[in-house]
Amino acid sequence: MDKNINVGQPISRLEGKQKVTGTAKYAAEYEVNNLLYAYVVNSTITKGKILSIDTSKALALPGVIEVLSHENRTKLAWFDVQYADMDAPPGTVFKPFYDENILYNGQPIALVVAESFEMARFAATQVTFQYKEEPFKTCLKDNLGLARTAKKGFATALKPPPPPPTGNFEKAYESAAAKVETTYSHGTEHHNPLELFATTTIYQGDGKLTIYDKTQGTINNQLYVANIFGLKYKNVRVLAPFVGGGFGSGLRPQYQLFLCVMAALHLKRNVKLVLERKQMFSFAHRPPTIQNLRFSADINGKLTGLNHSSKSETSSFEDYFEPIASWSHRLYPAPNTLFEQELVPLDVHTPLDMRAPGGSTALHAIECTMDELAYQLKIDPLELRLINYSEMDPSAKKPYTSKALRACYLEAAEKFGWDKRKPEPRSMERGNKLVGYGMATGIWDSLQFPSRVEAMINADGKMVLNNAVTDIGTGTLTVMTQIAADQLGLNMEDVDFQYGDSKKPFSMFQGGSAMTSSTGVAIVVAAKELRKKLLKKAKEMTDSPFKKAEDDQVTFQNGTIFLNSDPNTLVTFKELIAFNKGKTIKTTNMGKPHMLKLKNYSLATHSASFVEVEVDKDLGVVTVTRAVTAVAAGKIINPKTAKSQVYGSMVWGISKALHEETIMDPNLGKYMNSNLGEYHLPVHADIKQLEVIFADEPDELINELGVKGVGEIGLVGMPAAISNAIFHATGKRIYKLPIHFNELI
Ligand code: MOS
Repeated sequence: MDKNINVGQPISRLEGKQKVTGTAKYAAEYEVNNLLYAYVVNSTITKGKILSIDTSKALALPGVIEVLSHENRTKLAWFDVQYADMDAPPGTVFKPFYDENILYNGQPIALVVAESFEMARFAATQVTFQYKEEPFKTCLKDNLGLARTAKKGFATALKPPPPPPTGNFEKAYESAAAKVETTYSHGTEHHNPLELFATTTIYQGDGKLTIYDKTQGTINNQLYVANIFGLKYKNVRVLAPFVGGGFGSGLRPQYQLFLCVMAALHLKRNVKLVLERKQMFSFAHRPPTIQNLRFSADINGKLTGLNHSSKSETSSFEDYFEPIASWSHRLYPAPNTLFEQELVPLDVHTPLDMRAPGGSTALHAIECTMDELAYQLKIDPLELRLINYSEMDPSAKKPYTSKALRACYLEAAEKFGWDKRKPEPRSMERGNKLVGYGMATGIWDSLQFPSRVEAMINADGKMVLNNAVTDIGTGTLTVMTQIAADQLGLNMEDVDFQYGDSKKPFSMFQGGSAMTSSTGVAIVVAAKELRKKLLKKAKEMTDSPFKKAEDDQVTFQNGTIFLNSDPNTLVTFKELIAFNKGKTIKTTNMGKPHMLKLKNYSLATHSASFVEVEVDKDLGVVTVTRAVTAVAAGKIINPKTAKSQVYGSMVWGISKALHEETIMDPNLGKYMNSNLGEYHLPVHADIKQLEVIFADEPDELINELGVKGVGEIGLVGMPAAISNAIFHATGKRIYKLPIHFNELI
């Protein structure tokens, strides 16, 4: 069964109508009887101790039920033992209301529970604290002396430290014909998915909870709640049928989940807790980073040395690590390499994965340094990439399962019109705008997690599938339905993929651009078993014409099984279930990456981005007028949802290059622009012409579907392509992001 009828089609999202008409329900939108509303109070100091809390005024207000803090919170075994979550970095997980210590500005320190949201919010302003403040460190630049290597931990397998040095970098750099040294700095960025972080906990008694939560991982959060509150796994159900964006912010359970559940258990009531936009700037950010790079090449442009050192922020309690220093050598061969990566622990909350964590920051620095090298050598930037093109992964010394990056470069360059670029900076104009062309390469991991799928045919002859995965807006529901439909030869209308529920078979949290491969492969594995079971049932029927039929001698189509040799000899799924006394025929199977087979290969997606910018000569304002990104990501299951993923990533790239940054005031230790008025995001007027190309990249090795994932690859090349275009337009090299207009006039 590998007929692709639905797979490969640009099918619109099946839940799209529910989303745009407002009938899709999110975590904060469930109507629940006898609901209490909780509101979080956050610390206004950065480091120190809470000496006392005065809750009397708040408690005296009508409808206020309780004010919880470390002073009167539930006693929990969790506060003495370590349990974190499936995405926790090494260290000690942050435990809200653990004790009087303040570890970062914005830390949740009290929770007001009231009969109405408005009263809870007002009462929160009436709770007063006496603090003892202590000195703190929140500025990366001023504290580079604290840099040290990351502790090893659970996540180390997915986020390996940089590889050991090869050759002799210093010697090679010293004697190189061409060399470039750069230092790049990137600021903090905060997650701002459209849906606010929210939890609705339904208290059912007997230690049973049903929880609607904004998360990328229903099972991750189920395990978290059960473990830290000492509940049975089967008594905790976490649901997230719709998720209004994730991008990494929902990979870890956030504090509103813990506080909402604590309040529900403490008061034995149903509780809803929604964080405000401002409060969402108190967790989940991309860490600021300072990178030093030295690249050297021979006179023909062949790289001879790569040195990349990075220092990035983490919290005082966890070692958040994202790979930065190791990417250049996964793209470009060089005999002499030296990669170093260190963390600087500061008095902030632990950073968290944000779309293409590490890669999007690293590739900006790497691909801008390559651009500088191209100018120095007077070689076209695209040509320099092709001179250093590698079919294999030079870092791991392994071939890629597939790599269509060359096609990405050439097809995107052609579509963009790269050949019309005049090489000199400030050589192209349009009215009072300087025009610049820039390009950059992208690379991202191609991951697959184990996933378990239950697949069944019901009495109505239709297929139902169950998996705990979420759909954070990526099109998971649609893509999984396409895959499943083709596996059984059904129309998509006859397939019901159910998800977003921790009660369903195992899925990892939705992240790492890995869900199409993870759940998709599990569907293929389960469908194969289901076809076997259906054929077996067909053989059991009286005078069955299928008695001697092998798997490959029958076809599953339109809810029937027929003999290839005689398509009129058929049995319908409905007849099979009727013969099975009306009982569903089902199977549950695990899809897993083929670790053994793949251990001799490198796995990655690639991309090439080409960008045109206009820079206003008088005002310095930058507009990304055109961008083309070509992506090589194996088989594309749904070109429409996949394109949307890449468009979204390209917009994020524009945002990272020109708009987004949370500003830390090192004197106050707090973020100064924690609102969408001052935390700049691109709006429609900032986005002009975007084009996406998918390179043809058949991959027989990587998994049963030949898919790689498209969530993050569209972002990684964009910031460098924009920066390089700005240099081409203006002759100015800006070594930090976002690039502001005042730096260009
Ligand atoms: Mo993504 S940063 O793996 O949600």
